[in-house]
Amino acid sequence: MFTMKPIGYVKSPYSDTAQIPKGPGAKHEAEGTLEFLPEFEAGLKDIEGFSHLFVIWVFDRSQGFDLSAHPPTAKKPHGIFSTRSPRRPNPIGLTVVRVLQCAGPKVHVHGVDMLDGTPILDIKPYLSSIPDNQLKRGWMDTGG
Ligand SMILES: C[S@@+](CC[C@H](N)C(=O)[O-])C[C@H]1O[C@@H](n2cnc3c(N)ncnc32)[C@H](O)[C@@H]1O
Repeated sequence: MFTMKPIGYVKSPYSDTAQIPKGPGAKHEAEGTLEFLPEFEAGLKDIEGFSHLFVIWVFDRSQGFDLSAHPPTAKKPHGIFSTRSPRRPNPIGLTVVRVLQCAGPKVHVHGVDMLDGTPILDIKPYLSSIPDNQLKRGWMDTGG
């Protein structure tokens, strides 16, 4: 077993899941703030040099899981691990955000898709070396 504690929380404009754009083509244009606990602020040193970050977080308002999920834009159900459904065995979310501004323990970002108050487990610099023409996106590219 593992025990993890939040390093901070997301300040987001979304209080209800219905407000968050859904589906593979959904555009996440909302701005929000990653607010870190004071004891982790020193760990943010040099973060302003990165344009994008991976945010690893907890679906804290999701209950239980299914091994099959039917995303809103899909034609049929898919295995949970080929979806980004919140109802997964380990309810971990992963979002790429663009850094707008860093101010002490707060990082203002673009592209949040989490509810207000969502716990943050970790952040990491976004790095991708996979060229677009080598990326396959499974059912998301074939209409669901
Ligand atoms: C499809 S998931 C994708 C999240 C992330 N980009 C990922 O791939 O892991 C996004 C949905 O999770 C739900 N959600 C967001 N924050 C949540 C939270 N704190 N607890 C439970 N569900 C949440 C909302 O319904 C939102 O539309």
